[in-house]
Amino acid sequence: MKLVTCGLPYANGKAHIGHLRTYVPADVYVRYLRLMGQDVLFICGSDCHGTPIVVNAEKEGISPKELVDRYHEHFQKIFRELGIEFDFYGRTDAEYNHRRTQEIVKRLIENGYVYAKEIELAYCPKCDRFLPDRYVEGICPYCGAIARGDECDQGCGRHLEPGEIKEPKCKICGSKAEFRKQKHYFFKLTAFKDFLIDYLENKLQGTENALNYAKQWVKSELRDWCITRNLEWGVKFPGENLVVYVWVDAPIGYISFTEEACKRKGLDWKEIWLNGEISDITHFIGLDIVYHHCIFWPAMLKGAGYSLPKAVVASGMVKVEGKTFSKTRGYVVWVEDDYLKAGFNPDYLRYYIVNYTSHEKDLNFSWKVFRDKVNNEIIATLGNFIYRVLHFAWKNFGRIEGKVDPAVIDKIAEIKDKIVSAIYRWEFKEASDAFMELATFGNEFFQSSKPWDLVKEDRDRCMDVLASCIQIVKALVIFAYPVMPKTMSKLAEFLGLDIANTRLEDALKPIESIELSKPFLPFEKVDDKKIEEMERAMLERIRKAEEAESGKKEELIDIKEFAKLDIRIGKILKAERIKGSRKLMRLEVDVGNEVRQIVAGIAEVYKPEELVGKLVPVLVNIKPAKLMGVESKGMLLAADVNGKPVLLHPDREVPSGSKIK
Ligand code: MSP
Ligand code: ZN
Repeated sequence: MKLVTCGLPYANGKAHIGHLRTYVPADVYVRYLRLMGQDVLFICGSDCHGTPIVVNAEKEGISPKELVDRYHEHFQKIFRELGIEFDFYGRTDAEYNHRRTQEIVKRLIENGYVYAKEIELAYCPKCDRFLPDRYVEGICPYCGAIARGDECDQGCGRHLEPGEIKEPKCKICGSKAEFRKQKHYFFKLTAFKDFLIDYLENKLQGTENALNYAKQWVKSELRDWCITRNLEWGVKFPGENLVVYVWVDAPIGYISFTEEACKRKGLDWKEIWLNGEISDITHFIGLDIVYHHCIFWPAMLKGAGYSLPKAVVASGMVKVEGKTFSKTRGYVVWVEDDYLKAGFNPDYLRYYIVNYTSHEKDLNFSWKVFRDKVNNEIIATLGNFIYRVLHFAWKNFGRIEGKVDPAVIDKIAEIKDKIVSAIYRWEFKEASDAFMELATFGNEFFQSSKPWDLVKEDRDRCMDVLASCIQIVKALVIFAYPVMPKTMSKLAEFLGLDIANTRLEDALKPIESIELSKPFLPFEKVDDKKIEEMERAMLERIRKAEEAESGKKEELIDIKEFAKLDIRIGKILKAERIKGSRKLMRLEVDVGNEVRQIVAGIAEVYKPEELVGKLVPVLVNIKPAKLMGVESKGMLLAADVNGKPVLLHPDREVPSGSKIK
C-alpha cells in the first residue's frame, strides 16, 4: 500500500487558490496511480492547533473549537466540490491525534532526544502572559523584515524559535513586550545532522527544489528546536502545564489519520508507519513548508523509531495576476466566493493548476489566461474533438462497428507512455500536455479523413474512420479523467465505461461496437463579460486593501528625526548570491569613505551582474545585522512594488558618499 498525503490546511480561514496548488496535483497524482493499478491510500485533514487559530477565535469572541469546526466543514465542502477525494479527512484536535502525539513525544523523551532548558521569552506585562508564536510581532533577527511569531513570512521565510524575534510587541494590546525566563523543552535536532545529510542525499526522493533547500539548511544552520508553548489549546506536553508546538502534532496527523483510515478499511497502519526504514509515503506540500517536512519531520520520526517518507513533492508558490500572493493586499482568489459561486466548472481550475507550468515553478493565476486556457485548449482542442466525433457518429450511424487504424492504437500507446513517465516525475503539466496532444492528433485525423465525404461515398470506410475516432475519444476520457474527473466521468458513463475500474491500458483495447445516444456538449465556454467582471471584483478588492493600508500610518515626523538617518549614495562594487537563500544577495558597496558589506533582499529580482557599477542610496547608520550568517552594515533603499524591491538611482552621476537630505 502506498500512502499519499497533503499539507494539512490550517482550519483558520477559507480555502484559496494557493491551497489548491497542493491538493489538486496530489489528487491528480493519486487518480493516475490508481489508473495504473496501484493501491493508494490518500489522506489529509485539518490542522487545528497553533496560535493563529487561538488569536482569531479570541478576536471573534468564540472558542478555538468553534472556529476550527467552521473551517473544517468549509474545507471538506470545497474538496468535495473540486473533486479532491481523500480516503480519510481527519482533524489534529481529535482524540486519536492527541493519543498518537503523546505516544511519540514520550518515545522521544525515553530515547533521550528531549531536554529542558530555561529560555528568555517574550512576555506582555500588560496582558500578564507569555506571548507564544503569533501573539508577538517584531523584527526578524536574520533579515530585518517585520516578522510574526514563528516565521519570517514577509522576509527570508525562516522558522523563528521562541524568544528570537527582536523588538517584540504584544499582538493583542500592542504593548512593548519584555523578556522573561521560563523552562521549556527542546528536541535535539542537532543530534540528527549526520542522519539528515545521509537521508536527504541518498534516500529521500522528490522534487529538486525541496531536496536542495533542505540540504543547504541542514549543512548551514541546524539548531535544537523548542517544542513546547504556553497555551491551553493544543496537545498537552506530559507532566507540564504546556502544549506541544503545532508543528509537532500537525505532521503526526499523517500517522493518526492513517490509523483511522486503516481501521475503517480493515488494514494495518503499522505496515506503513512502522515497517523499517523507508516506507512508501509521499508528502505533497508547497515550497513554504519544506523545512518542516524535510528536516523536523524525518528527525522526529527517526528519533521515535517510525518509518521515514520516501518522497516529498513540493510545488512552487501561487501568484495572482503576476503579483506575490497576499490575502491582506487582495491578491488572492477565494475558491468558494470568487470561483465556485461564479459558476465555473471545477475541472477548468484543476486543469489550469496542473497545466499552467511545471510543478516546481511558481504558478501565476490570471483571469485572462484562465479564459484563454479554457476556450482555446479545453474547449477548442479537447471538447471540440469529442463532441464533433460523437455527434457525427450518432447522427449518421447510431451504432459504430469498424476497424480501428493501427496507427491510432500506436499513437494512443505513445501518449500513455508519456503520461506514465511524467507522473513518475511529478510533471503534471507534461501529463496533461500529452492528452492534449492526443486531442490535436484526433482533430487532424478526423479532418484529413473527411468522414463527411466518406459517409456519402463509402459507408464502411466511414465506419472505420469513426471507430478510430471513438477509440481516441475513449482514450482521452481515460487519460484526462484524473485532471477533469467531473466532466470525464460523465463522458465515461456516456460511453458505457466504468471509470472506477478502468486502467490506462484499457485505452488501447479496441472498441468493437458501440451504440450511441444523443451526445451532450461536454464543456461550456467562458465568456469575456464574466471574466471582466471577475477582474473588476479583484481590482476593487486590491484598491480597498491599499486604501486601508495607507490610512493606517499617517504619523508625521519632524526634520530632526529625519536628520538622524545617514543616507548616502553608494556604488556597488561587487554582488553575489548568498547560498541557500532565494532572496538574499551579498554586496560590497563604496559609501564614500569606506567599502561596506551589505546584505540585501533583492536576489529574486536582480542578477549580480546587472548590479555592479550601479549607484544606489544606502542607509549607512543602521545597526549592523547578521543575515544567513553574513554581516550586513547598511541598508539599500528601494521602492516596494507589491513586496518586490525596485532599486533607485540618482538622476545623474554623483560621487559615492554623496549625502541625501
Ligand atoms: N498547516 C500547515 C501545514 C501542516 S502539514 C503537517 C500549513 N497550512 S496552510 O493552510 O498554510 O497550507 C496548506 C497547504 O497549502 C500547504 O501545503 C501549503 O504549502 C500550501 N499553500 C498555502 N498557500 C500557498 C501559496 N500561496 N502557494 C502555494 N502553496 C501554498 O502550511
Ligand atoms: Zn527573516
